[in-house]
Amino acid sequence: MRLFILLLTFTSSLLGQNRIGTGAVQKLYQENCMSCHGEHLDGGLGHSLLDRSEWTVVGDELDFIQYVQAGDSNTGMPGFREALTVPEIRSLEIYIDEVGQQARDVAGETSVKRQGDVLTAGGYDFRLEPVIEGLQTPWSIYFLSTTEALITERSGQLRLWRAGQLSEPITATPKVITQGQGGLLEVAAHPDYLDNGWIYLGFSAAAADAEGTKYSMTKIVRGRIVDEQWVDEQVIFEVPAEFHRQAGVHFGTRFVFQDGYLYFGIGDRGAQNQAQDLSRPNGKIHRIHDDGRVPVDNPFVNQASAYPSIWTFGNRNPQGLDAHPITGAIFESEHGPRGGDEINLILAGRNYGWPVITYGMNYNGKPITGQTAAPGMEQPLHYWTPSIAVCGIDFYEGDQFPEWKYNLFAGGLASQELHRLVIEDGRVIHDEVILKNEGRVRDVASGPDGCLYVVLNDPDVVARLVPAAE
Ligand code: HEC
Repeated sequence: MRLFILLLTFTSSLLGQNRIGTGAVQKLYQENCMSCHGEHLDGGLGHSLLDRSEWTVVGDELDFIQYVQAGDSNTGMPGFREALTVPEIRSLEIYIDEVGQQARDVAGETSVKRQGDVLTAGGYDFRLEPVIEGLQTPWSIYFLSTTEALITERSGQLRLWRAGQLSEPITATPKVITQGQGGLLEVAAHPDYLDNGWIYLGFSAAAADAEGTKYSMTKIVRGRIVDEQWVDEQVIFEVPAEFHRQAGVHFGTRFVFQDGYLYFGIGDRGAQNQAQDLSRPNGKIHRIHDDGRVPVDNPFVNQASAYPSIWTFGNRNPQGLDAHPITGAIFESEHGPRGGDEINLILAGRNYGWPVITYGMNYNGKPITGQTAAPGMEQPLHYWTPSIAVCGIDFYEGDQFPEWKYNLFAGGLASQELHRLVIEDGRVIHDEVILKNEGRVRDVASGPDGCLYVVLNDPDVVARLVPAAE
């Protein structure tokens, strides 16, 4: 038992998912459920709750909340309708999913096998090769050509990687505010880069007239690089000072260019209710022209009080954005609270529900809501509970792993995972882990050499997945 607890503690700190199994919800479990289902959920008078696939009653027909409210007099499962609120019961369900997943992690149940430096997952043997080292919290990579890439470091540097060499920081890049999750974040080139040379940066910045404040907000500029210097800068997106916030969290960014438009996200900036407020830019996906103008056919442009660049709302903390290479459909990854990381299909004018509906709870184990669905609010295509701390996403377009072509890859920070999702007919039909405990996966990108690249933090390195020779 002691060893088990030690292992649990060790694994959780290793994963950084160190809130799992803690907080108000743990107390709720101990007071109401532990006497029958065991301290570690592994069973007693009632059966083990660790593996949902072994449950016999709760399922498609009967949901967890209904079952726990009503109980079952035939088996001796008491009803909790009087004792617990719906949000409390919902937080217990999240807790049970968290602890179950953690038990599987401790048992070493992962789809990734390792022999020497050869990893096996997703039907391939491959190696994880470091490509770019000497970085500090790299955030985003963009390939300009087969031999050139741009890389951002969160502390503010933009670097060029050319023919295997990493440049000194590009000089004269914009001033960023680096606090918490903020800093220099996204980088991408315009689709017509070869003709126009435009490079776009997304970062956290102070308002134009507010030097020296701690208030910041997501900002986008474009510029060109000449002799390793940033020149010709133009502001593409910036919000008035009244919308800047002191919190150092949930800045979003990530760019998708499509048909002359630029799509990007801004997280709720720590003010969850503002995600539902159309007069504010935070908690939204935005669409603007690639020169910064607001399209006249955006969904809320005709609502006087609405922020005109809003494309979707109710988005907590967008951390990944990519368009399907064939259909052009835009997919987003969204960091949930404790539980409920999401993959969403982004459609004009839709409400993605945060914080009215969510598959997560507060970090301290207190419930947010009992509702996971509501009329007029979109369901995620896919969600993770416990959270993997989902980050960058990319549809793989290379040919080194033919079976993976057009699969969606999603990185996880705290979980240190890379997931491969197979999407068919608008549904995620398969989710498997391709990398585990190799580092926090900040970004993922198809390389021009057909390999799959990952931007890792701890260790700070850009690495690529390369098929292992037969
Ligand atoms: C007095 C003992 C007791 C307590 C307290 C208790 N349970 Fe149960 N629970 C049972 C029994 C008995 C079963 C049925 C087990 C079986 O069929 O083997 C059960 C079954 C379940 C199931 C399984 C449903 C399925 O589909 O198999 C869930 C989920 C569950 N309980 C959740 C809870 C939660 C959450 C709490 C605390 C709020 C709780 N239980 C408190 C005795 C208890």
